[in-house]
Amino acid sequence: MAQRTALVTGGTGGIGTAIVRYLAGQGHRVATNYRNAAKAEAWRKQMADEGIDVFMVEADVSDPAACEAMARTIEEKLGPIDILVNNAGITRDTTFHKMSYQQWNDVVNTNLNACFNVTRPVIESMRARKWGRIVQISSINGQKGQYGQANYAAAKAGMHGFTISLAQENAKFGVTVNTVSPGYVGTDMVMAVPEEVREKIVAQIPVGRLGKPEEIAHAVAFFTTDEAAWITGANLAINGGHYMGW
Ligand code: CAA
Repeated sequence: MAQRTALVTGGTGGIGTAIVRYLAGQGHRVATNYRNAAKAEAWRKQMADEGIDVFMVEADVSDPAACEAMARTIEEKLGPIDILVNNAGITRDTTFHKMSYQQWNDVVNTNLNACFNVTRPVIESMRARKWGRIVQISSINGQKGQYGQANYAAAKAGMHGFTISLAQENAKFGVTVNTVSPGYVGTDMVMAVPEEVREKIVAQIPVGRLGKPEEIAHAVAFFTTDEAAWITGANLAINGGHYMGW
């Protein structure tokens, strides 16, 4: 398999870590961003102990200038970015009638506007080099909506709108753009949902359990292969049967 340069945003998170591990395991050079230096250093050390060398750049994905600088720094250090996984995301769950503008804006900025901020500085180089793989990590809740997540569901649904437009614009340039929509995976984000609420959600999952981060990473890695060149604009649901769109 060709060794490529990959940027996984939010690599230190639950699903992000699994994606970083998977892509590094395939021999790719992997970079990620971070915001909290202490957390990032502990994570980098954990990865290094596993034999995984991750290039880390301080950048908030909601900040366009920081993302532009991050892309240039990664290019200088690892070479042009071939694989981009827009994975960084946050929740600010509350019912809409109680939601503040800040809770709305934080989620839209970090989950959706980040797709512009991070992808814009890398797309021209992918087009020029006639090869690229972009994967958005959306959510089951962008597909079906979720009580308490008007901000998150709107941003996650928007990510797939971004995917299908970019897929059309960049197909001729060897750049595929796809979405992976995970269901409820056993990460800190999902474990922060109050236990009694979470138990009711898990009871709705036909497979009968939360997902594992590796189960998401496997699919993301699939989209980044040479063999997946004819798959573009897809939205792959990985949710234990929780929501079956078609
Ligand atoms: N459908 C119908 N009613 C619901 C409901 C649902 N799904 N969920 C809660 N309710 C009801 C409750 O039963 C309660 O009713 P009563 O007042 O009659 O008792 C009422 O809503 C509570 O409403 P509040 O306005 O008081 O709710 P709140 O402001 O306290 O917010 C909440 C509650 C934050 C929405 C909480 O229920 C919650 O955290 N829900 C889970 C949200 C969720 O799934 N988040 C996903 C996070 S993980 C993630 O996002 C990753 C991913 O991509 C999957």
